[in-house]
Amino acid sequence: MTKPLRIALTKGRLEKDTVELFERLGFDCTAVREKGRRLILPISDGNIEVVLAKANDVITYVEHGVCDMGVVGKDTIMEMQGKFFEMVDLGFGKCRFALAAKKGTDFYSGFGVKQIATKYPSVARRFFESKGMDVDIVKIEGSVELAPLLGLADGIVDIVETGVTLKENGLEVVETVMPISARLIANTVSLKMRQQEIETLIGKIEEVLEK
Ligand code: PRP
Repeated sequence: MTKPLRIALTKGRLEKDTVELFERLGFDCTAVREKGRRLILPISDGNIEVVLAKANDVITYVEHGVCDMGVVGKDTIMEMQGKFFEMVDLGFGKCRFALAAKKGTDFYSGFGVKQIATKYPSVARRFFESKGMDVDIVKIEGSVELAPLLGLADGIVDIVETGVTLKENGLEVVETVMPISARLIANTVSLKMRQQEIETLIGKIEEVLEK
């Protein structure tokens, strides 16, 4: 048997949806479901090996070719960019990037340079550049909603899924930046060297997604 196709999966929310997708393809994901603390796991009848990694690292591993493919959110792709192919919109992990601010404030009023807190500085920078608006960007690692509440920022650029986190913290969406969902990506060399296997897998995935 040829060496397995190695696929990096973003741990957490996307992991669960990806495993469900693989099971719909008829793959046996028992090893992933019973993984314990193991990070590299076989999908027994699919000739696939799954690598569990943080979102940014999924891109790093695919870019460097140590993983042939990856499942990662469009949010991470937009922030990291890089040299790989985006193959399929998997349709799960749906949310959006949004600009949000304290409820009842007029974010665009006034002439001072706005402070923006975000986990996604590149996305935020491009968004405000597209508006021709000069802003100061502060990188925050998590719970970005805190920044306007603590007075560190006028607004945030962050992921909004249900909107509950914003609502419960007295914030509201000012503007949607872009929709997000999980994507299947491929290493550029793997796509040439293992074209048939990758195309077969993508064909199966697309068939299941259409159902
Ligand atoms: C994400 C995001 C928001 C929240 C939005 O955070 O950064 O905080 O989810 O979800 P909601 O609209 O459904 O409330 P995550 O849970 O990934 O944690 P983090 O803020 O620590 O990164």
